[in-house]
Amino acid sequence: MSGMNALHVSAPWWKPDSGRTLSIRGGRPLGGTYPVSGAKNAALPLMVSALLTPHLVTLHNLPANLDVAVLSALLQRLGAGLSWSTGASGLSLTVCADRVHAEKIDRELVARMRASVLLLGAVLARCGEASLPLPGGDAIGLRGIDFHIAGLRAMGAAIELEGGMIHARAPRGLRGAEIALPLPSVGATENLLLAAVLARGRTVIRNAAREPEVTDLATCLIAMGARIDGLDTHVLTVEGGAPLAGAVHTVMPDRIEIGTLACAAAITDGALTLANARLDLLGAAGPLLRAAGVELETIEGGAVARRAAGGLVGVDFTTQPYPGFATDLQAPVMALMTTARGASAITETIFEQRFRHVDELRRMGANIIVRGRTALVRGVPGLGGAAVTGGDVRAAAALVIAGLGARGETVLDGLDHLDRGYDGITAKLKACGADITRA
Ligand code: EPU
Repeated sequence: MSGMNALHVSAPWWKPDSGRTLSIRGGRPLGGTYPVSGAKNAALPLMVSALLTPHLVTLHNLPANLDVAVLSALLQRLGAGLSWSTGASGLSLTVCADRVHAEKIDRELVARMRASVLLLGAVLARCGEASLPLPGGDAIGLRGIDFHIAGLRAMGAAIELEGGMIHARAPRGLRGAEIALPLPSVGATENLLLAAVLARGRTVIRNAAREPEVTDLATCLIAMGARIDGLDTHVLTVEGGAPLAGAVHTVMPDRIEIGTLACAAAITDGALTLANARLDLLGAAGPLLRAAGVELETIEGGAVARRAAGGLVGVDFTTQPYPGFATDLQAPVMALMTTARGASAITETIFEQRFRHVDELRRMGANIIVRGRTALVRGVPGLGGAAVTGGDVRAAAALVIAGLGARGETVLDGLDHLDRGYDGITAKLKACGADITRA
């Protein structure tokens, strides 16, 4: 069995919703409690980390989304045993990777998900070889993997790119290296960290990404016995080479889901209790949302988000590496700004094609012009429902937010994208009073 057909075996909890479109009748204030899931972008590298050890790794609070299902199918193809459970800690997975078959990476599954490139460092370090189709994923820019490859080469790997495949070999094992990343790439930092913990000797990763998801991965690796210094900074130092033990780790809350739902609460003039939310994870997006008229308050066990009494106000922002404003919140916050008082200049610096939501928001009546990397949004009194398509995971989330705030019916397709990143969003929104149906 291969590809997507394998998902019901490797991730039995994954029940693809048969509906291809989401219909939203907007204008209803959201209320009640929205449970925030574990972070997708932490869960994926954490799952890969389980390949580094023959001992059991248990991850709690995994988000039940399509990317996690796809990655679990990939792990299983590589020979890992998976055991799932659901309880007070959410969705939990125990991985037993006592053997890893480097040659069994599934091409179709890798093509589904860019994060599969994270397998390269871990499988290479564990098996001494790895072959991977060049990764797929969102169409949001070039998203090269040159930093990943240069870093692994510096650690002694021989890597060839041929016929859409990456072939990497390190028959005598990887060795520690000094690596300076040209940009603080999240994926390259994680890939190199995964490789470095098994490489012999010291690796220093300069200009490393310091996104909270990188720290979550490093924390789990440390629990497995890895020696890593410099967490939450741009320089990570790893003393590698010691065999790793198993670990139990709880995935951090999804800061992008927190920001997305705060926008949904504010655009509908509702109030949501975001269970498990941690506002400190928002970085610059926290103060910026407040300046835009979103009240955010920490409470025990989470946070509350609502529109401030003064209403929504246009704000300017530029996406930056953490703790700057997250590129993954650019589309959701742009959706919020479409009906704010005044204008917002929104500049995207991380990815070159991350304005796929703009045309769709325009179809709903938004006033947005794009000049190079900046979108200028002039607030309009209200949006109207329309038929729209989510071109990537965050574009789809932005259109859900816009649909919740719009008059009339919005019909969204491109739901595979939404499913990749948001665990049970339809049911969770419905429970918070949204008029939303998937059919
Ligand atoms: N880049 C290169 N060469 C490389 C690596 C990156 O040129 O070898 C460039 C990319 O093209 C991009 C920039 O560097 O322009 C930043 O990319 P980065 O490597 O940081 O992104 P990523 O690891 O591919 C992760 C998240 C993204 C998130 C970015 C930025 C995961 C699985 N994905 O991607 O999440 O936008 O970091 O924070 O962690 C999403 O969840 O919607 C999503 C796209």
